[in-house]
Order: sequence, then C-alpha cells, then structure tokens
Amino acid sequence: MPTSPEEKGFGQADPALTRWAERVFAPEDAVLREIRERGVREGLPAIAVGRFDGLLLEVLVRASGAVTAVEIGTLGGTSGVCILRGLGPRGFLHTFEFEPLHARVAQESFGKAGLAAQVRIYQGPAGERLKEIESKAPFDLCFIDADKTGYPAYLDWAAEHLKVGGVVLGDNAFGWGGVAKEAGEPGIEAIKQFNQRLASGGRFRATMIPTAEGLAMGVKLR
Ligand SMILES: C[S@@+](CC[C@H](N)C(=O)[O-])C[C@H]1O[C@@H](n2cnc3c(N)ncnc32)[C@H](O)[C@@H]1O
Repeated sequence: MPTSPEEKGFGQADPALTRWAERVFAPEDAVLREIRERGVREGLPAIAVGRFDGLLLEVLVRASGAVTAVEIGTLGGTSGVCILRGLGPRGFLHTFEFEPLHARVAQESFGKAGLAAQVRIYQGPAGERLKEIESKAPFDLCFIDADKTGYPAYLDWAAEHLKVGGVVLGDNAFGWGGVAKEAGEPGIEAIKQFNQRLASGGRFRATMIPTAEGLAMGVKLR
C-alpha cells in the first residue's frame, strides 16, 4: 500500500485520474450536455464551468442548505442549472448576464431543464442591476463568475447582502496562473485583490478549492 508524501500537493493534474472520476461520478447528464452543445451552435464562448466544476457547485450548494442564490455571470445557464439543482424544489436563483444573446440561450436552458419558474435572469451590467434585488436580501449563496475586474466589488456586494453563514464562491480564482506572478493585467490584479480580501478581510472564513481554475469559497462570519 503506497503511503502519502509528507509534503502533500494542492489539487491533482493527472488526466488518468480525471477520466476515472468522470466515469465514476458521471458529472454531466443529458440536460447539461444539451446546454453545452446548443451553446456551441448559438456561438457562445466555451467558458462555462467544466463538468466537474458544475457537479461540485451542485454538491456545495446542497451541503450549504442554501435556498436563495445569486449568480453573477449566467452565460448559457450551465452553472445556473447546477446551482438550481443544489437549491432544490423550494429554491430560487437570481442570475445576472450582460449579453442579450447569452441571456436568451440561458432562458431556453432553464426552460428545458424544467427550472424556469425558479429563476430570473437580469440582463445588463450586474454592477447596476444587482441593486434591484437588494430588498430581498439576505441571500444564502452568491456565485461570482463574470467580468474579472468586477470581482472585488461583487465580493463587497456579497459581504453586505449574504446572511451570516452564507456562502460566496468565486470562479477562476487562480487567474489562469496569474495570481502567483508579480504584476498582471487589470483582471488578474482584481482577482488577486478579491482573494486577498476574501482570505483576510475579516468578513469571511475562506479557502481555495483547487479545481483546474481555482474556486475560492468563503463563509460569511459577520
Ligand atoms: C465565464 S462566463 C459565465 C459562465 C457561467 N457561470 C457558466 O459556468 O455557465 C461569464 C459571463 O459573464 C458575463 N458578463 C461579463 N461582464 C458582465 C457584467 N458586467 N455583468 C453581467 N454579466 C457579465 C459574460 O457575458 C459571460 O456570459
């Protein structure tokens, strides 16, 4: 029986393990596959969460017991469907998307997934439209996956509008490797600021889940 090394890695990059896990945990079902394929046909960029990221989202949302969630960055609805599955039948998702085409494709996705009654898409810049749901706060969970320069402001919004014990999740938190480098372009610098503030700003207890692109996760303390 092999033993664990004393210095343990952070995440894994073994394609054989990834294929094995895909076989065993089957992260993408027919609904999610159809959304991915329709997104390609509609000309959406291939920037949705990966298969395992989607399943991880669903399981994290389920584990948190969240019922109301906010998503910033809808694209074609892949992550939204995963979040809604985690929220369960009483759940509701407010999701924000800048591009009209993406919002239209996502609306179709939520319909095909049988979830249209549990979601509202707000089309336009999230920084402006988030105000429209503030009267419904506090929310249980907020998933941030839109323009990277907006991440620090979205985190501040989450800190103000989540319940204590609520969860914030930030995708692409490794900044495609850029966060570990000295100086990056504005989007990378914003992701660095987001991580720094999440980790030590005093509002959240946080960690980094070492998915391929990094999923930062914090639980609101105060
Ligand atoms: C990475 S994609 C989201 C992927 C989606 N969460 C998924 O996994 O299925 C980022 C999305 O954010 C949208 N976006 C960019 N800037 C935005 C803004 N200021 N407000 C709202 N949405 C924005 C983009 O149009 C794009 O559809």
